[in-house]
Amino acid sequence: MRRVSSETKLCGVIGDPIEHSLSPVMHNAAFEALNLDYVYLAFRVKKEDLRKSIDGIRGMNFVGVNVTIPHKVNVLPLLDWLDPVAEAIGAVNTIHNQDGELLGYNTDGVGALKALKGRAALRRKRIVILGAGGAARALAFYLAKECDEITILNRTGDRAASLAKDLTNRKLGAVVLGLPLNQENLRQSLATADILINATSVGMFPRINDTLVPSQFLSPSLVTFDIVYNPPKTKLLSDAEAKGATAISGVEMFVNQGALSFEIWTGKEAPTEIMRKVVITELRKLLK
Ligand code: ATR
Repeated sequence: MRRVSSETKLCGVIGDPIEHSLSPVMHNAAFEALNLDYVYLAFRVKKEDLRKSIDGIRGMNFVGVNVTIPHKVNVLPLLDWLDPVAEAIGAVNTIHNQDGELLGYNTDGVGALKALKGRAALRRKRIVILGAGGAARALAFYLAKECDEITILNRTGDRAASLAKDLTNRKLGAVVLGLPLNQENLRQSLATADILINATSVGMFPRINDTLVPSQFLSPSLVTFDIVYNPPKTKLLSDAEAKGATAISGVEMFVNQGALSFEIWTGKEAPTEIMRKVVITELRKLLK
């Protein structure tokens, strides 16, 4: 265990629930690997206490914090400056305290984009995104600049339509459709899609046998990416692998978003291999 002193710089994550967050082990391992005098802690912050916690970051001179559910959207008006992309997405997951000014960023979308680009080409591709919440929004925003067509399917059809409208109005490049998530829309859109992304929480521990996609709609050529990282291989990903498709785990996006936050706070290149290893080891322990 590293020594913590009066010089040690403070980072953390605020959210509710927060008990199962893997961000503390991941970031502390990264600080340790680079011999940086920082610590990273988790804080359970209730919705009504968000403002007080942001005042705390200022008052106690934290270097930075990650922001997670349910605060990613509500935190925006409490910050001093927003990265234009975070502002367009409408969600912040990383705050950097630079000389008393709180700067807001969103590293989820880039993290996901990096995870996908490592395994699949996006140019001229058709992508189906399941979900229309904060995570889907961050992802769709980046993907719309890179691919040809995005179909957003969501349980609440209105949310899919409104996200599609928002993206279309921004003229990012891709044609974007928003439809209710049902068997017929799934079947039709997946028949011509190149990439499928689950941006909902379906399949997450403890409901690890849940999936939104019947396996007959999957195919060997459909690259399948799940943002869920616990478990590292969801039911959707095992079904995709069983078809012979490329399956990309949410662990990649989680590590990438963390690495980008780390770089914003420290100005140093993140030790991503070490971060990935720690996360996978912790997830294995959780699944035992
Ligand atoms: P996040 O910021 O993590 O995306 P969110 O804004 O609460 O969280 O969004 C969660 C997403 O998962 C939504 O698209 C939600 O669908 P609704 O908009 O209809 O609520 C989707 N989701 C969650 N549970 C689901 C389920 N059992 N079946 C289908 N979609 C589900």
